[in-house]
Amino acid sequence: MSEHKVTLADVKTSYRRWAGVYDSVFGAVLQDGRNKLLRQVAKLQPKSILEIGVGTGLLLPHYPPLARVVGVDVSEEMLVLARGKIAKHNLTNTSVELSDGEKLPFNDGEFECVVLPYVISVTPNPNALINEAIRLCSPEGHVLVVNHFSGSKTWALLEKVAEPIAAKIGFHSSFSYDEHIGKSGLNVVHVEPANLLGLSKVVTARVT
Ligand SMILES: C[S@@+](CC[C@H](N)C(=O)[O-])C[C@H]1O[C@@H](n2cnc3c(N)ncnc32)[C@H](O)[C@@H]1O
Repeated sequence: MSEHKVTLADVKTSYRRWAGVYDSVFGAVLQDGRNKLLRQVAKLQPKSILEIGVGTGLLLPHYPPLARVVGVDVSEEMLVLARGKIAKHNLTNTSVELSDGEKLPFNDGEFECVVLPYVISVTPNPNALINEAIRLCSPEGHVLVVNHFSGSKTWALLEKVAEPIAAKIGFHSSFSYDEHIGKSGLNVVHVEPANLLGLSKVVTARVT
């Protein structure tokens, strides 16, 4: 575990600052991963979707229209923008709420699909958030992740250098696939590289 531990207060402070420019800065640059994740969701056609770390709601207008969609986030400033998209696109099947994805007020197995886009390397305790996603996913359901993961030795070195700064702006820079996905107990059925240099992966997994 890094000594530069990210706290929930760091995350809230960081996204309070990012909210106003988030879509301009991180919209297009991370869109390839979102598009690949959406293609996986479309194949599964779930009746219910939970998105943890919904942010400004960039994915919300693109989920299957018949699904019940719930988004959660710890940043009220990001959620204000997500609510704007819900209103703009008249997404009557969709709601968002302020809640910590590591401990959510939903029942075991409540959602057919739990989606984690670019959140597991931001949350203070990634394994706790992944365990919560597994708890909330129905036995026949899927957990989908898109995130950057540590790659080559050169990148690993750069990530280490970036780590103290990354903690200040609210994310874990070096992030191991084996540590967080490999050891999670998830049954991975599909992995696809995404974004610049394939630094991100889109992971589709079953919970049983
Ligand atoms: C990098 S943004 C991703 C936003 C969006 N999913 C996207 O595709 O752009 C990470 C989001 O996760 C939220 N977040 C971080 N930790 C969280 C937690 N424990 N529970 C809920 N949301 C969290 C942050 O507030 C932020 O809005």
